[in-house]
Amino acid sequence: MKHLTVKAPAKINLVLEVLKRRKDGYHDIRTVMHTLELADSLTLTARRTDLVVSCDRTDVPTDERNLVVKAAQLLRAEYKVEQGVHIHIQKRIPVAAGLGGGSSDGAAALVGLCRFWNIPVDYERLQGLAAQLGSDVPFLLRGGCALGTGRGDRIFPWQAAPGLWMVLVNPGFAVPTPLIYKNLKLPLTRRKNYITLLRPAISKKNPEKIGEYLYNQLETVTLKMHPEVRRIKEILAACGVSAALMSGSGPTVFGLLPSPEVGRVVLKTLGSRYPFICITRTTGPLD
Ligand code: C5P
Repeated sequence: MKHLTVKAPAKINLVLEVLKRRKDGYHDIRTVMHTLELADSLTLTARRTDLVVSCDRTDVPTDERNLVVKAAQLLRAEYKVEQGVHIHIQKRIPVAAGLGGGSSDGAAALVGLCRFWNIPVDYERLQGLAAQLGSDVPFLLRGGCALGTGRGDRIFPWQAAPGLWMVLVNPGFAVPTPLIYKNLKLPLTRRKNYITLLRPAISKKNPEKIGEYLYNQLETVTLKMHPEVRRIKEILAACGVSAALMSGSGPTVFGLLPSPEVGRVVLKTLGSRYPFICITRTTGPLD
């Protein structure tokens, strides 16, 4: 194979609950994630032995800080591959935005490189490599909808709800995930379990019900540091988007659209106020 292009979809967290702080510096969480049509794309081109990564955005590192580089190195070591590859990343997902862009690029590199180098795609084995790359990477190998436990890396696939209209608004600044987790104060009492209620709402593809159970425990932390995120939620509500939530550690806010027409109202109202506004839809798992 000489060339291969693979998609790396964005994700949103419909629920993100933080259970406890762990000794290894991570937090045990329970999160329900869904992938979106908004996606980066990775183009793989054969090279003799060396590994080269490039990106159409100059602010994205293309050295070992990039999960695509790490994914290729891990896969080559795991399967003793000697061939090289050039991977070009076309970014459409905003960076450090809570949408899993970098993680999804890493996941797409793992799956794409298996195909490219004729390695049988063994998702169980890839899950182990994916977890080494980051907490969100195992989910993004397949996407669709799933519950993530542990660091968010233990994946229990759920029936997805593809085709739901979403608006994404990103205020244009990056939010470092470790800082948000660090500033989180864990409550003494637990709130009621939205995750059990969310599952039937998703399998029935019922946007009103899904909207009732959206919850992100990291939101309070980011909202306090960046009032602009709250402002986005208020504007969306004023446009008729009642169900809106920050994704991951933020700052991107997603809104469940009751109809694509409401999306047009949002686009018109926000105009060029924010650097990234996008209407997209939820997707099922990747093939
Ligand atoms: O797993 P990932 O590399 O994406 O995580 C980035 C950082 O976010 C971690 O180093 C940690 O500070 C924080 N994190 C956490 N608990 C999680 C996931 C991430 O504390 N479950």
